[in-house]
This record gives sequence, structure tokens and C-alpha cells, in this order.
Amino acid sequence: MIKDYWVNATENFSKNTEKQFNSHEAIKWADFILNEIKELEEPIEILDIGTGAGFFPLILSSETRHVIGIDLTETMIEEASNKIKKYKVNSDVLVMDAQDTSFKDNSFDIIICRNLVWTLPDPIKAYKEWNRILKKDGLLLIFDGSWYIHHYDEEHKKIFNKKRKEMENLGVEVYLYGDKETRPDDYNLMLETYLKDKYRPEWDVKNLTELGFDIEKVLEEYMDVMFEKDYRAKQGMIAPLFFIKAKKIKAL
Ligand SMILES: C[S@@+](CC[C@H](N)C(=O)[O-])C[C@H]1O[C@@H](n2cnc3c(N)ncnc32)[C@H](O)[C@@H]1O
Repeated sequence: MIKDYWVNATENFSKNTEKQFNSHEAIKWADFILNEIKELEEPIEILDIGTGAGFFPLILSSETRHVIGIDLTETMIEEASNKIKKYKVNSDVLVMDAQDTSFKDNSFDIIICRNLVWTLPDPIKAYKEWNRILKKDGLLLIFDGSWYIHHYDEEHKKIFNKKRKEMENLGVEVYLYGDKETRPDDYNLMLETYLKDKYRPEWDVKNLTELGFDIEKVLEEYMDVMFEKDYRAKQGMIAPLFFIKAKKIKAL
């Protein structure tokens, strides 16, 4: 079911990736990430997990930064592969499961992922696997959102509804994550996800710490750092969007 969801989402997703790559957002994203990884001496190997249509390979690759993008969904990898050829970037993409990769131990200087972890059936298994394939002192950069917590927690529901009103007053169309009536596919997907009712990023911080990572930075709303204030609201992005930077300090 989760895979079918991403196959169906591929066409739209790929169009949005192309649009984002050709907008000012690409520069903001690249600046933010390159600033977080500037401590590493290049050349470096980067793994983008759940690469989708290849946004991170497109914006992060250079002569000294080789990016491998992996994704479970073949159609996403086809789209990513086409874009990598079109824009001639120093990347490779492969079909592979985030939780069970075929890479050797200590392969990467950086693992990065955006909007992936929330959809994994067993994120602890994934974090163990990522510890294995990351080099010692390598960096893990996670961008994700608490898309569904307002369905499970009254306080979050209040915050969600308040933000919703503010955004609708601005004339913005709000994406109602997990809404049974208006987003039935997303509602069904939500019910299947392991992380739907977990408090994040706290859940990730606790587990990553137990799994050999040192937490270097947590931002509860990275969009407000990357873009001007209210940019997120104007886009109708209502869910809290967080960033975690962690360093692998020991192998498991
Ligand atoms: C919301 S998209 C994010 C894509 C990309 N990171 C971006 O931000 O543009 C989530 C992606 O995760 C992929 N995915 C879902 N489960 C996966 C798994 N177990 N292993 C690898 N990729 C997975 C989906 O196919 C989809 O392309």
C-alpha cells in the first residue's frame, strides 16, 4: 500500500521537483545544507535516502561531492535518473530500501533525507542501518514533518486549527494532512504509518542518541530559518517541519 501511494504520486511529485529545482528555493536549500556540512573536507560521498525525483542530487552534486540517491519506488528513480541526465550532475540513483541497503559498512560521509522517515514502517531499523553505512564522524541530516500529530493530541489539534484559520484568512489553501473527508488516500496512509502518533523530533532525538549518534542541532521550524518569516504559512504548509543534525560517534 505505501509503495502504491508513491507510484501514484510520482508524476505530480516529479513536476514539483523540477519546479522547485528551477526556483529560488533550490538556492536556499543548497545554502542551508552546505553551511551545515562545511566542516567536512571534500571530496565527499553523500547518500540521499528516499530521493524521490532527485531534488538533493540535483542541488548538492559537484565535482567534489558525489551524491547517490536511493528510493524504494522504481518510477521515482526513473524520474530522478532522467533529471540527472538532463542537468548532467555528478550523481547516481538506485532502487533500494532505506531500511535494508546493500552498501558496505562506513561508506558515506553524509546521509541526508527529506520527508522520508515519517513513512517508514520501522524507523529504528533504518537508523541502525544508517549508523552502519555512515563513516565515523559522518553526518546525518534529517528534514521531516509532524504531519499527523494533530489527529492524536488535543494540544496539537488546537495549534493546527489556529494556524489553519490564520492561513485561510490570508487566502491560502491549506493541505489538511490525514483528513478523512478531503484526503482519503492520505488518511489511509496515515493509519499505516508507525510514526503517526509519535512526538517528533523528540522521538528521533531519543532513539538516535541510543543508536550511536550525537545530536548536534535540532530546529523545530527549519523553514523559518531557510526562508523569510511566514513563507511556510504562505505556501499552506501547516505541519511543523523540523531538522535534525546528528553525528555518528560510535558503531553499534
Ligand atoms: C515525500 S517523498 C520525498 C522525496 C524527496 N526526498 C524530496 O524531498 O523531494 C518520499 C519518498 O520516499 C520514498 N520511500 C518510501 N519508503 C521508502 C523506503 N522504505 N526506502 C526508500 N525510499 C522510500 C518514496 O518512494 C518517495 O519517493
